[in-house]
Amino acid sequence: MSHTHYVNTLMDEIVSFRSSIAAGNVSPDVTPEEIREHLNNQFDLSQPRMLDAVIRDVADMMRRWSLHTTNPNYFGLFNPNVTEAAVAADALTALYNPQLATWSHAPCANEIEKFTLDFFLRQFGFDPQTSAAHFTSGGAEANHTAVIAALTRHFPSYGNAGIRSLTGQPVLYVSEQAHHSFYKIAHSTGIGRDGVRIVPVDRALRMDIRSLEHLIAADLQNGYIPFMVAGTVGTTPAGVIDPLEDIARSCKKYSLWFHADGAWGGAVVLSNAPQPLAPGIQLADSITCDAHKWLSVSMSAGMFFCRHQHAVGEAFRITASYMPEQVQNTTDLYATSLQWSRRFIGLKVFMTLAERGAGGLAAMVDDEIALGNALREALMLSGWKIVNTTPLPVVCFTHDRFQGNPLPAENLLKKLYADGSLWISGVTIPHYGFVLRACIINYMTTQHDVTRLVTTLDRFLNETTAMD
Ligand SMILES: Cc1ncc(COP(=O)(O)O)c(C=O)c1O
Repeated sequence: MSHTHYVNTLMDEIVSFRSSIAAGNVSPDVTPEEIREHLNNQFDLSQPRMLDAVIRDVADMMRRWSLHTTNPNYFGLFNPNVTEAAVAADALTALYNPQLATWSHAPCANEIEKFTLDFFLRQFGFDPQTSAAHFTSGGAEANHTAVIAALTRHFPSYGNAGIRSLTGQPVLYVSEQAHHSFYKIAHSTGIGRDGVRIVPVDRALRMDIRSLEHLIAADLQNGYIPFMVAGTVGTTPAGVIDPLEDIARSCKKYSLWFHADGAWGGAVVLSNAPQPLAPGIQLADSITCDAHKWLSVSMSAGMFFCRHQHAVGEAFRITASYMPEQVQNTTDLYATSLQWSRRFIGLKVFMTLAERGAGGLAAMVDDEIALGNALREALMLSGWKIVNTTPLPVVCFTHDRFQGNPLPAENLLKKLYADGSLWISGVTIPHYGFVLRACIINYMTTQHDVTRLVTTLDRFLNETTAMD
């Protein structure tokens, strides 16, 4: 059995898949039974198989039975195409398998991560000397980390005595368009799901600051303990940026922690736009930004940034005799973050940044913003109605021919998914109900793909509304 043959097979697959992805379908046509039957027939796990053959079969299954988020015609959720650097970095990470829990087990990997995170800290206007930052599995973990750090700072007894030591229920505030991870976080931190206050949004789908302050005042009067507001930089449904400067002002007024959830949209700090696209993000106490969204690295790669080093250290402090001793002037990540064993998440972010440079990443962000504007224009020219306002490339739209009824839009999506050649989503948003949603999330998407999307939508609109 050749030990090197599998590398050639893997390399062939990488090159061939990358060069053919744009020509294939986005959506698969498969049932769970079909995949299960194939696995049962193909893999008699009591018998060994050549790795080479296993790779070929897995590649064949992945090609046939995946929703191809790396296809330039995927205009869906925040799942990007990935850079070649990320593919290489993931292979190198598996090869060396460094353990980043302590600095002493992975000096090179830990310093590469710190070097990369310091770059982003500076982009966000934080001082690397006094701030904390680490990679996470994604935005949900980064938001979770923010809530734990905020609770730890706001309630000195929280860490040891828990929520029951507090004189009232702690509450955090998010807009009705915020990511739903905050419910799971409230559940698991002991705040409870009832401790999440939902702030209404204005017509532009941005957190309504007057409502926020009314809710805070009412909670204070009723014995609740407000401790945090999370504003979103690029909401999941409609890509909207909350009024971050106003949120910062309210947080200052009531001494609350200001978290900016920029899981997708935080990347706009890299943009070369003449005006900052997320003004006020630099005022946050903590920031979530996922490299596995707009920065086009493979999953999982989230980032957490915080200007309160002490709060983060206090939140995750731990010592264990079986862990290696800390090296002077370094951080051991198992004692400053939620995870214990740690994968080298940051390598793909570092290698993507090193290969393309800050200018390359800025161009990626700005090109996708420009294509989002082109999509908006093309849709309007074709008679569609845009219902969200944002400089970012998420476009929510509807058509007068739907007459405010969700059914035609749902039918149109069903037709689109059955066709399989491109993918957009649907979403229900305040003031507008169920609308169609297309996001430019792939750095290989072109003007040609955008034109094709609009032509296809027009065709299905005619079929759908003629049918209804
Ligand atoms: C605004 C926002 N925050 C948090 C998350 C959760 O991120 P992840 O899926 O990386 O955990 C998402 C996911 O799309 C998001 O859009």
